[in-house]
Amino acid sequence: MCGIVGYVGGRSALDIVIAGLKRLEYRGYDSAGVAVLSDGGLASAKKAGKLANLEKALADRPLPSGGTGIGHTRWATHGAPNDANAHPHLDNSGRVSVVHNGIIENFAELRAELTARGHRLSSETDTEVAAHLLAEEFSSCGDLAEAMRNVCRLLEGAFTLVAVHADEPDVVVGARRNSPLVVGVGNDEAFLASDVAAFIEHTREAIELGQDQVVEVRRGAVTVTDFDGRPAEVREYHVDWDASAAEKAGYDYFMLKEIAEQPKAVADTLLGRIDASGALLLDEVRIPAGVLREVEKVVIVACGTAFHAGMIAKYAIEHWTRVPCETELASEFRYRDPILDTRTLVVAISQSGETMDTLMALRHAREQGAKVLAICNTNGSTIPRESDAVLYTHAGPEIAVASTKAFLTQLVACYLVALYLGQVRGTKWGDEIRSVVRELSEIGTQVEQVLGTMEPVRELARGLADKRTVLFLGRHVGYPVALEGALKLKELAYMHAEGFAAGELKHGPIALIEEDLPVVVVVPSPRGRSVLHDKIVSNIQEIRARGARTIVVAEEGDESVVPYADHLIRVPATPTLLQPLVASVPLQVFACELATARGNEVDQPRNLAKSVTVE
Ligand code: G6P
Repeated sequence: MCGIVGYVGGRSALDIVIAGLKRLEYRGYDSAGVAVLSDGGLASAKKAGKLANLEKALADRPLPSGGTGIGHTRWATHGAPNDANAHPHLDNSGRVSVVHNGIIENFAELRAELTARGHRLSSETDTEVAAHLLAEEFSSCGDLAEAMRNVCRLLEGAFTLVAVHADEPDVVVGARRNSPLVVGVGNDEAFLASDVAAFIEHTREAIELGQDQVVEVRRGAVTVTDFDGRPAEVREYHVDWDASAAEKAGYDYFMLKEIAEQPKAVADTLLGRIDASGALLLDEVRIPAGVLREVEKVVIVACGTAFHAGMIAKYAIEHWTRVPCETELASEFRYRDPILDTRTLVVAISQSGETMDTLMALRHAREQGAKVLAICNTNGSTIPRESDAVLYTHAGPEIAVASTKAFLTQLVACYLVALYLGQVRGTKWGDEIRSVVRELSEIGTQVEQVLGTMEPVRELARGLADKRTVLFLGRHVGYPVALEGALKLKELAYMHAEGFAAGELKHGPIALIEEDLPVVVVVPSPRGRSVLHDKIVSNIQEIRARGARTIVVAEEGDESVVPYADHLIRVPATPTLLQPLVASVPLQVFACELATARGNEVDQPRNLAKSVTVE
């Protein structure tokens, strides 16, 4: 949700900022803009639409070159996505330039005060007030970092601000509250960005910024303080992936690459977490075993795809640990006054670690005394920083807006947490845990097998490109898989798609079934819980009798569904609870191909952003 880049060093700031923005475009693509300090002045350009529009404008009217600059790619909150509202925003003198991610909640009041003091504001954004306030503060203190601190104390809401001033040509200043900002430390150069991806090709040495901190970067110097100017402790870290991980590697889309990376992502997430005997080693779960043994309730909070991972986790946690578990949309959680106490374990699942709804939910949980365990894919991001413990998924950078490999690794992490709880609470025997762990270790190969058989799924998707609706049905853990399949199709193909618990169909949604309506049905294994399987086979018959075109996802060897499947998608046999790890994959491929067939932008679907840092 808005990508920000800042650079100071000996190279062309414009080139570095534009390259960084390309890597951050997943965060928003409503408009883009840059500002560069050069020859004692400040030059800037901005354009509505994707970064390519800005690049074209810059090719027509180049900016002067300079070694200090900032840039922004926007996901609009305040004001339409047009040129005027694009960032950077300047003050009236044109010497201060600011980019922003987040929402300044008291901007209307500040704007009225600025107008009364004679400032002329020309956009509808909340951001522009920050540029004017910075100019005012700078004119009295003559120091951009100090001016930023003074401004931050006036602002309410969530914000990352990055600014430059023509009077301090070798400085970029940033500030963060509830919104991400990292520093990249290079050789005689420094970077500021919403995400390390923006500077990973230049340096893998980064500094995490804490809440309510201001950072001033110069060539070779990084100074961090709190909003009152007190020096802050700086935590440096090394990014453990490189630029090639953030490239398309020959694939047409990041999503295709990320789907293909799933076997490795799953294996990497298991790596080092199982000892030679098959027992779980989750040392990073710093919550003492004694506390976990006392847990009386688990509450999972997450959004979007991560929420679907959480829904699946509920089945595993309750089955393996016998601890009651609820999964709740993070955006609903704190508003209903949930019952939480020191015996509640809250699990916050988030790929980005920055989703504001999830962050607010976990803060609420901690205020009530609950322990929070984060499952996250982004090292050093806000959600793990504010949690009591974190289990990182090792999916590597996920760039496509629609989540795929992060989802699979979230599932793996959820299964590990469930088993770990079973291990410390003694509700699972060691050999049972080893047996599930063995099955989990085979999942990577099984996902590989699924990926090797996807051509008929792609062909089917192309054939359905002109349909208006696709329904998805599942039972038990297949139900969240159905929801996720429908979400993927909505996000990518812009089609009406809905997932239902198959048993609920007869209570209403069956009225939607009409001749040739495509219905994807996720069928559980006939082994294990055969009652589940038999029920869903009946549901398939019910919809087929009413004209639906049935697309059945079933495990290899399940012949009972063959007579009722207009299209059959085979997945390897897995234990019932682990089936989502293989059954989700064809649905990702299906949505991706259908979106491509409809001419949609797979990696950057309309109206969406990957990291949603506003509530
Ligand atoms: C956005 C993305 C989704 C993602 C959700 C939660 O809505 O478009 O793909 O599932 O945020 O993101 P998180 O980073 O918290 O997993």
